[in-house]
Amino acid sequence: MEWVKEFYSRTGTWWGPAEAKVGDRDHERAAKVRAHVGDGPLRVLELGSGYGTTAAVLAADGHTVTAVELTDRVRFQTPAERLTVVNEDFYTVRLGKEFDVVCYFNGFGVGSDADQRRLLARIAGEWLRPGGTALIDVSNPFVWQSWHGDEEHRRPDPEQGYAYELRERTTFDQVTCTATDTWWPVDQPDEAISQRLRCYSPADLTLLLEGTGLKLAGIDPAELRTEHEYLAVLRPATP
Ligand SMILES: C[S@@+](CC[C@H](N)C(=O)[O-])C[C@H]1O[C@@H](n2cnc3c(N)ncnc32)[C@H](O)[C@@H]1O
Repeated sequence: MEWVKEFYSRTGTWWGPAEAKVGDRDHERAAKVRAHVGDGPLRVLELGSGYGTTAAVLAADGHTVTAVELTDRVRFQTPAERLTVVNEDFYTVRLGKEFDVVCYFNGFGVGSDADQRRLLARIAGEWLRPGGTALIDVSNPFVWQSWHGDEEHRRPDPEQGYAYELRERTTFDQVTCTATDTWWPVDQPDEAISQRLRCYSPADLTLLLEGTGLKLAGIDPAELRTEHEYLAVLRPATP
């Protein structure tokens, strides 16, 4: 997982000025929390919170939010009431608190299956209250596979905050069910950086969850047909 810090820090420098703004996606995520868990107010843990826009919306909705983010993407975070940002690694951070909801939006699947299990076991054993809910976006192999070999050219758009001219190449390895998403500035092809995301079908995810203390309680089949990630609703395996 050595690539993680550099990839999300560097891409944060490229995209943060444009993307560290609350948008529809943050409100849709807050609506999903309401739909699956209730109006609250809730104690919410958000893992891999990035620029913190979803955490900010959840806090504005009245929830008490702890957001854990590894990289300097936290520099884009707008402080808010009821929001605590912890700039640490979620594999090692000690929070000493329980939560009604643990969310990981857009990011699950980094590292090996054993790494995912380690994180899921921490969610079940340390952070989620009995009867709580974990909401995790899972990379969808059916859509990532369809993007295999795609290349994109992203031109700068300084008015929107995109200062860099970038290229992207996406590949999908069917044997390991892993997507590789590689980016480089057009004038620095030797500086390419990649994120690698293990994708899980719902059947794979069910196997992954065995022994972690969590079980799959629901997904939206429509997302699985069309989206590059689907929201897995997880609940404690034993009530
Ligand atoms: C794909 S980004 C998504 C960010 C945010 N959730 C969003 O949807 O905009 C994944 C985020 O997870 C963070 N992350 C990855 N591994 C982490 C770890 N071990 N501890 C804390 N944060 C981590 C990355 O730094 C990155 O900001």
